[in-house]
Parts: sequence; C-alpha cells; structure tokens
Amino acid sequence: MKLQAKAEKLIRSICQEYNNEPTPLMMILSKIQKEYGYIPLEVQEIISEEIHIPVSDIYGVVTFYSFFSLKPKGKYVIGVCLGTACYVKGSQTIIDKFSEILKIKAGETTPDGLFSLDALRCIGACGIAPAISINGKVYPKVTANKVMSIIDEYKKLVAEDAQ
Ligand code: FES
Repeated sequence: MKLQAKAEKLIRSICQEYNNEPTPLMMILSKIQKEYGYIPLEVQEIISEEIHIPVSDIYGVVTFYSFFSLKPKGKYVIGVCLGTACYVKGSQTIIDKFSEILKIKAGETTPDGLFSLDALRCIGACGIAPAISINGKVYPKVTANKVMSIIDEYKKLVAEDAQ
C-alpha cells in the first residue's frame, strides 16, 4: 500500500532529522511511533531508503520491541506488566479481565480504535506491583476488580471530549 504524500513527507523529514546521528534507527523509530502511531512495512521501506539500512533489519527492531507497532494502536494503550513481581501478585488475572471486558487479546486493538492491550515486561514499578500503565500513566496495586472502573474512567473522558 502506498502512503499518502503527507505521511510520506512526515516520515522522510523525521529520518532526515536524525540521519547524521551515529545510531539513528532507534531515534527515528521512536519518533515515528509517537507522531505517526505505527510503523508498517511501507514506512519501513521509506526509512530504509533514507538511512540505507535493509528493511529486514528495521523489521527485526520493530518486532523486537513491544513499544513499536506494525499496526495502528488505540487512543489508549493499556500495558499490563507481566514481569515477575507483578506476575506473582496476580497480573495475569488483570490482563485476563481487560481481555474479557474489551474482547481483545494482548497485542490487539478494539474495533472502535479506543483501546489497545499490551503485555509488558517490568515497567520499573515493582514496589507498587501489580502495576499497569495507560498512555504512560502508571496505576499501582491494580486488582481484577478495579479493571472495569479503570476502563470506565477512559470511556468517560471520550464521552466528555465528544461533547
Ligand atoms: S515486574 Fe511489574 S513493575 Fe516490575
């Protein structure tokens, strides 16, 4: 699929911004993920052209790190930590509850584009395990019982925005 001219321009300008850095790839990918929202194959091809790194290498990096995505992410990205400290305190039941209520598996996005669900490794908040993060905001000591009210909190925000 061909990118729209505006999107292609954005991707190329991000590449050029970091092209002279010694290791531009991670910086470029991070910025594209932030500004464009995801990094599909057609975007990787442009990056490859711009910084002369094979698409296969770029693909390897994009698929290795969970914060890069090949598909568009939802407006709210829910990351449930399944690192050891969180796991022993029941984080599997938390991610299962999100899955059940949102009807998506980890790595998927709801059809309305509102929520994505990700399983994360340690997010550095073991002292307040089990922890989740939503668009970077960390929630401490989450339980499965709190999941519904956390989802409602975001649905309410969306409803307020729509008014
Ligand atoms: S294991 Fe979950 S924050 Fe460290």
